[in-house]
Amino acid sequence: MTSADQDGVFHIGGDLPVHRMGFGAMQLTGPGVWGPPLDPDNARAVLRRAVERGVDFIDTADVYGPGDNERLIREALSPYSPGLVIATKGGLLRSGPATRENPGMSMNGTEAHIRAAVEGSLRDLGVERIDLYQLHRVDPATPIEETMSVFRTLRDEGKIRHVGLSQVSVEEIERARAVVEIATVQNIYNLAVRNYADVLVHCEANGIAFIPFWPLHIESVAGSEVLARIAREADASPRQVALAWLLQTSPATILIPGTASVAHLEENLAACEVVLTDRHMRDLWALGGRRET
Ligand SMILES: NC(=O)c1ccc[n+]([C@@H]2O[C@H](COP(=O)([O-])OP(=O)(O)OC[C@H]3O[C@@H](n4cnc5c(N)ncnc54)[C@H](OP(=O)(O)O)[C@@H]3O)[C@@H](O)[C@H]2O)c1
Repeated sequence: MTSADQDGVFHIGGDLPVHRMGFGAMQLTGPGVWGPPLDPDNARAVLRRAVERGVDFIDTADVYGPGDNERLIREALSPYSPGLVIATKGGLLRSGPATRENPGMSMNGTEAHIRAAVEGSLRDLGVERIDLYQLHRVDPATPIEETMSVFRTLRDEGKIRHVGLSQVSVEEIERARAVVEIATVQNIYNLAVRNYADVLVHCEANGIAFIPFWPLHIESVAGSEVLARIAREADASPRQVALAWLLQTSPATILIPGTASVAHLEENLAACEVVLTDRHMRDLWALGGRRET
């Protein structure tokens, strides 16, 4: 059973309603997800337009910048409109701009780091409580139970409202849920990459929102005849079809496509209007998926 309803609203953790087409803010950072965006005015305009168009779920992370992305959201959108949910993440660090050869990432799920990260995000976002706080990556050196007990304490202290996970298996979700309620899971998943299909099914069955990241990274199927035909039949662009497929594939999905372009934002939001038939859904599923973790 899920908390989604007919209007495309999902109740995160059962009590925090958001429309299922949200926005991912990571693109609004400097090259390699490092530093401020090259065009801050444009970045602020994208965020403001998203909210103007009814987006009420924005995903960010302390590591985007680090700090710059959360501060940009604050500059552009605070005072926040009622009902706007900002989700952020902690537990991941970067030593410099990410490149394909060197993502430069390390994990830290210790109490000292997570506490400091939450304080940093509260300050940078300018909020008294974080609506949804996600563990960005499980720290291989810290048992997930230990990290989750820190999240539970922070929730009980009123610093975070709901707890989410990112890039986790069903087994890790269950280990985490034994310690604290898990409201969301954010894993890579799209038309071309399906290796977390079991996690999606598990989330849907347990009332957990599944937030597929990289919804538009569909390069390996982007040129396919099947996708081109369905896009023509649905009167949509291939990217809109990719987003509509994610929306229609489960009532538990919340989408966070990212862009630094107002025109692309408008195109992505319009994917909510795209209706795919059962046959389209079957054909898109049959496109298969390259495995990637
Ligand atoms: N949990 C995690 O570990 C994790 C990892 C990665 C991302 N994320 C989250 O997922 C969100 C989305 O990820 P993402 O932004 O990397 O990937 P994405 O949403 O799949 O794709 C973004 C890319 O697609 C382009 N794009 C967007 N809309 C387009 C359109 N209508 N037409 C043509 N190109 C378009 C963007 O370029 P333009 O700017 O030119 O539009 C950008 O290069 C992030 O913001 C972040 O919140 C989470």
